[in-house]
This record gives sequence, C-alpha cells and structure tokens, in this order.
Amino acid sequence: MIFRQLFEPLSSTCTYLIGCQDTGLALLIDPVVNSVDRDLAEIQRLGLTLAFTLDTHIHADHITGALHLKQRVDSRIAAPAIDRLPCTDVGIVEGTPFQMGGVVLQPLHTPGHTDAHFSYVLENRVFTGDALLIDGCGRTDFQNGNAQALYRSVIDKLFTLPDEQLVYQGHDYNDRRVSSIGQEKARNPRLGKNRTLPEFEQIMGRLKLPYPKFIDHAVPGNRQCGVCPNDLPQQMKAYCGRMTESPQG
Ligand SMILES: [Fe+2]
Repeated sequence: MIFRQLFEPLSSTCTYLIGCQDTGLALLIDPVVNSVDRDLAEIQRLGLTLAFTLDTHIHADHITGALHLKQRVDSRIAAPAIDRLPCTDVGIVEGTPFQMGGVVLQPLHTPGHTDAHFSYVLENRVFTGDALLIDGCGRTDFQNGNAQALYRSVIDKLFTLPDEQLVYQGHDYNDRRVSSIGQEKARNPRLGKNRTLPEFEQIMGRLKLPYPKFIDHAVPGNRQCGVCPNDLPQQMKAYCGRMTESPQG
C-alpha cells in the first residue's frame, strides 16, 4: 500500500493519499479544492490513477476537492450515505467495507462534530476526521453537532481500537502529524484521562469559539460535493484558489 499525508495550510486540513500497488488505483480522503493540482501531481508522480475521493463529513472550513477531481480525472465521489447528497456516487455506511483493489477501509459512524461524520479504519491506521484530533476534537456547536454524541463516538468506538492504532486527524493546527489511540487515551485533554461525559460537556460548553468564518460558503458548496460560490468575498478567494479566478481550470 502507498500512503502519503498531504497538508493544506489555509484551513490546516490533512488530506490522505492511499494507493493500491496491485491495481495502481488511488483514493484521497478529504481533498481540498484549492489543492487538487498538488494532489493530482503527487498521484501522477507515484504512477497511480485517482479512482475515488472519500470525505469524512460535510466540512465547514474548506471546500472539498471531490467534484473538481471528478470533473478533471473522472474519479468517483464517496461520502457518508446519511447525508443523502445527490452528487455522491458511493454512499458509505457503517458495517460495509469500502474496497478499492487491495485497499479495504472499515467505515465507522462517529457523529458529534456533525451528525453524519465518519471515521475510516485502514489496517493499523484510523482516519478520524474532526471527531478526534491530536490532543483535541472538533467543535460540536454547528451542523447538528452534539457533545454527548461525540463523547460516545470517541469512547465507545475510536477508543476501543487497539492502543497501537495510528491516529491520522482531519486537521493539524499544531504541527502534530500522527498520534495513536493509546496516546490519545492517555493525553487528550478533552477526551482522554478517563474524562467523564459531564466533564467533556462542560469543556465543550465553555469553549466560546467564534462563528466559523467560512461555514456559510463551505457547507452549501460541500452539499454539492465541492462547488465554489461565485460570490466569495475577496478576502476568501484563496479558499477556492485559482478555481475562482479561472473556472475553466
Ligand atoms: Fe469539520
């Protein structure tokens, strides 16, 4: 298996490139629209063909590259089935493995950051999206988020994986690229150290985070699998990169 962790600095998003050596097929977890050229160049450099994009959830802080990649290289769009997005080619459900050649992902429904959020287990790795971040977790105050649901997702699902399971998060805000389930259980200040549900709810309730600055553009765009709005304010044009300036791409 071929594996690369890629990073988009504007939204601090981690995109994961997974390739199957037998078939030459590749998939991208959580691609970002302003980085599709970078992603495609890396895939080409590795001699792979992009077969799928796979999002963990409907993002509020960036626009997915899924639709642009489909238009560019005919990749198929996989996303949680619960969101019922008409633009999705493959609906992900828990209990049904997602297979691409020799690459098999086990989808886990991990709601709480959003109600339809999924994590993906791949051999000794787990891609946790925004459900579990290194020393943190995604916020629970938008997109049908729910602190109790997130607590149950992490404690009952992610923390029951082996301690050695490598944790690959959806965002890297602090130059921390990989962790493990054992490390998060021991060290995560919100969800580790045997935190109780009331403690976690209190922590999340006291965060007082600002309104997400890109959410009103990102969520409608991502409900269409990655459409950049035409009316993006000047200071936000970088979120769509050259896609905004040159729709012909
Ligand atoms: Fe998110």
